[in-house]
Amino acid sequence: MRDAYIVTSVRTPGCRRAKGAFKDTRPEDMLAFILNAALKQTPNLDPKIIDDVMVGCAFPEAEQGLNIGRIVTQIAGLPIEVSGATVNRFCASGIEAIALAALRVMAGWSDVAIGSGVESMTYVPMGGNMARPHPEHCKTHADLYVSMGITAENVAKRYKISRQEQDEFALWSHQKAAEATAKKLFTEIVPTPAFKYVTENGTYKKESFLMSHDDGIRAETTLEGLAKLRPVFAAGGSVTAGNSSQTTDGAAATILMSGDKVKELGLKPVAKLKCYTTVGCRPDEMGVGPKYAIPKLLKIAGLSIKDIGLFELNEAFASQALYCAKELGIEMSKINIHGGAIALGHPLGCTGAKLCATLIANMRERGAKYGVESMCIGGGMGAAALIELCD
Ligand SMILES: CC(C)(COP(=O)(O)OP(=O)(O)OC[C@H]1O[C@@H](n2cnc3c(N)ncnc32)[C@H](O)[C@@H]1OP(=O)(O)O)[C@@H](O)C(=O)NCCC(=O)NCCS
Repeated sequence: MRDAYIVTSVRTPGCRRAKGAFKDTRPEDMLAFILNAALKQTPNLDPKIIDDVMVGCAFPEAEQGLNIGRIVTQIAGLPIEVSGATVNRFCASGIEAIALAALRVMAGWSDVAIGSGVESMTYVPMGGNMARPHPEHCKTHADLYVSMGITAENVAKRYKISRQEQDEFALWSHQKAAEATAKKLFTEIVPTPAFKYVTENGTYKKESFLMSHDDGIRAETTLEGLAKLRPVFAAGGSVTAGNSSQTTDGAAATILMSGDKVKELGLKPVAKLKCYTTVGCRPDEMGVGPKYAIPKLLKIAGLSIKDIGLFELNEAFASQALYCAKELGIEMSKINIHGGAIALGHPLGCTGAKLCATLIANMRERGAKYGVESMCIGGGMGAAALIELCD
């Protein structure tokens, strides 16, 4: 099989649902912008030779529905020949889209393909606009549809992850993210146009401004402040707004190519997507997914935890991220070095694509040869991807 080279991987900032900079920016606009930004960073690439654009989206309906994968290619101004599809594996949708694009390249079916992700949790709420669980299946297996927050409570209770530990983990996420922002280390972010509506002469006028940072980071977070927050999902529980991932709007894109095309265009690839895998687990503790996905990935790749320089372990909730890290024996200094979703946000279907861009930027910064991104997935699954930095 051929190698799938990553030549460009970028993201928009992540901004708070309903309260942040992208609250009036449609998902198609965020995604069209970041696709064009990725193309701009890839010299000599004629968009006509892009074979396909895969778009991860966890709730592909309303403004991000109707096959946003195809719609966005046209809104972005790509040639009519460039096809597009929407991919859904909930929180892993973005990396699933990148993996599908990579497989096309590896199989020799495509020379250039894009994997990306988008989610406006402002425009389309988590759960979608009208969830319709299967009535009979629910009578015996309601856990398949359980709230993600309850699964985080289950992990905390079953595996004894204390409130104190969760809050410490959350504080650490904000501290790392605040420091990285101050040091301008999020080099994968492309300042992105955001829209707002202002009143003028008794009517609304659409104005745009550039947004260049993740706006959910709370640099002022303290352990005392976090300890005061009430549990939001279960009375007497330990999962709060402070130690959960934030609901966020954002988009990200990765351009993949064959080795021959990289040479032909005279490009310098940054990394290779070496391997990707998924696995199922109990839906009512879906947060444990990475505990199974990461070993499965490493076994396929013939590597061990110690070979991996950096991890982006999605912080859906502090309870599950911490539990998985402990169970796998990952050194904490290798995890989410610039903070995770508790501080930076978790724009569901975008997250896998966003973490790819962040992981590669961090691997370049630290000179790590191998990096792994992994996340838990609603319904009870885990996903993991292995990235190798090019010399
Ligand atoms: C937990 C959750 C319900 C909270 O939603 P929310 O109320 O909109 O959350 P916010 O971030 O606005 O925080 C609410 C309040 O908590 C407090 N708070 C949050 N983080 C804090 C922190 N680090 N320190 C101190 N206070 C904090 C603040 O008072 C904040 O209000 P403010 O924004 O007016 O300052 C939501 O973030 C959630 O559902 N997260 C999980 C998403 C999920 O399940 N994803 C899928 C995973 S598989």
